[in-house]
Amino acid sequence: MDTLSTMDFRRHTQNDSPAIVSLFKSVFTKSEGEAEGTLISQLAKDLLEKTDERDLYCFIAADNSQIVGSIFFSRLNFENGIDSFILAPVAVHNDHQGKGIGKALIDYGLSELKKKGASVALTYGDPAFYNKVGFRTISSETVKAPFTLSQPKGWLGQSLSGDSIETLSGKCTCVEALSDPRYW
Ligand SMILES: CC(C)(COP(=O)(O)OP(=O)(O)OC[C@H]1O[C@@H](n2cnc3c(N)ncnc32)[C@H](O)[C@@H]1OP(=O)(O)O)[C@@H](O)C(=O)NCCC(=O)NCCS
Repeated sequence: MDTLSTMDFRRHTQNDSPAIVSLFKSVFTKSEGEAEGTLISQLAKDLLEKTDERDLYCFIAADNSQIVGSIFFSRLNFENGIDSFILAPVAVHNDHQGKGIGKALIDYGLSELKKKGASVALTYGDPAFYNKVGFRTISSETVKAPFTLSQPKGWLGQSLSGDSIETLSGKCTCVEALSDPRYW
């Protein structure tokens, strides 16, 4: 049986938090070095500890109860009040990458957000990867980002409602955990 068919995708519980933080630490340390591992695991910890539960969705992929992937979506507030969330960060355990788990976890997270009534998902990252899961580059002049972007080509979005993404207008603010220019 292939790995994906036995994988459990679900919303995280408080008991999962230490394993989620250590997953981000090990994956980002291995892929981008120790400093990035520390930074992104701190982001995961801050998102879990400092974010109002109405503003955060954290999902996990578990294989035989071992957490092998995790993804965060946190609320972005636009002046016109459209219900939108930013995907950041996501990680799949190094031993399990390249088997479709990342894509399945993103698809699962987006479908759960849609069920909760979110209209738009945004993210900030590598277009080559995120294009594969429905994100398209957007202009930060049309849809504002909460901070000045060091890589404007990485500003990406997708509609979950069928409406145009350009309905997002005005100033944008993010949750406290992401309110740090180092992430942008
Ligand atoms: C990026 C990551 C989440 C992808 O998860 P994964 O389970 O390895 O990816 P999948 O097997 O689901 O791959 C889905 C598709 O994306 C492609 N892909 C995977 N990683 C990619 C990358 N870094 N760049 C471009 N494409 C990538 C795959 O080839 C696959 O393409 P296909 O559908 O055309 O075959 C995972 O590799 C990871 O945790 N990397 C380190 C941390 C990171 O970079 N996180 C993202 C930024 S927050």
